[in-house]
Amino acid sequence: MAGRESPLLSPMISGDEAFHHSDNKERENRNGFESVLHLQDPRTENNPYLDLISTSFQERATFISHGNTARLAEDHGELNLAQICGTIASDEKLHETAYTKVVEKLFEVDPHYTVLAFANMMRKKITMPAHLIYDGRDDNLFEHFSAVARRLGVYTAKDYADILEFLVSRWKVGELAGLSGEGNKAQDFVCTLAPKIRQAR
Ligand SMILES: [Fe+2]
Repeated sequence: MAGRESPLLSPMISGDEAFHHSDNKERENRNGFESVLHLQDPRTENNPYLDLISTSFQERATFISHGNTARLAEDHGELNLAQICGTIASDEKLHETAYTKVVEKLFEVDPHYTVLAFANMMRKKITMPAHLIYDGRDDNLFEHFSAVARRLGVYTAKDYADILEFLVSRWKVGELAGLSGEGNKAQDFVCTLAPKIRQAR
């Protein structure tokens, strides 16, 4: 429904300046801040559409990564750790189910803005809430953590593409009809992105 105003969405298609700014600010704050974990800035602009889509993605990512960690732990005889990670994985699956249901409803009542939000979020790339994790010493702690996770197969670019494909199918994005030109572009973008991510690996 092109041209319709959504009171929730006026800042949504506004570009990336806002989160770059807050990213810099977070980094500046680290110097004088003793926190071990600093979990902020998911790049969702305080916009509920972006937030719910991003969280759906993250919940599935944590479901997958904890499941993979559980398997690794089991392979190495760490059965307690395997059980803990397995329990967390099933919890994350429940979170994924809850959030994806909410977004499913958004697609039902507001397909135009929801598909724009999905495309917007994927253009920015989904960052995990822990990407600003800090231990007081390593300025690149999350990058190092991510590199290890990739190397071990705990969470890889293939998982990222798989999650995107799962969500596209879960929300039946390819079947949305009656979108505006802008909505159709957003739909094409998200529906064709996963293979591109896999090729770029
Ligand atoms: Fe969760």
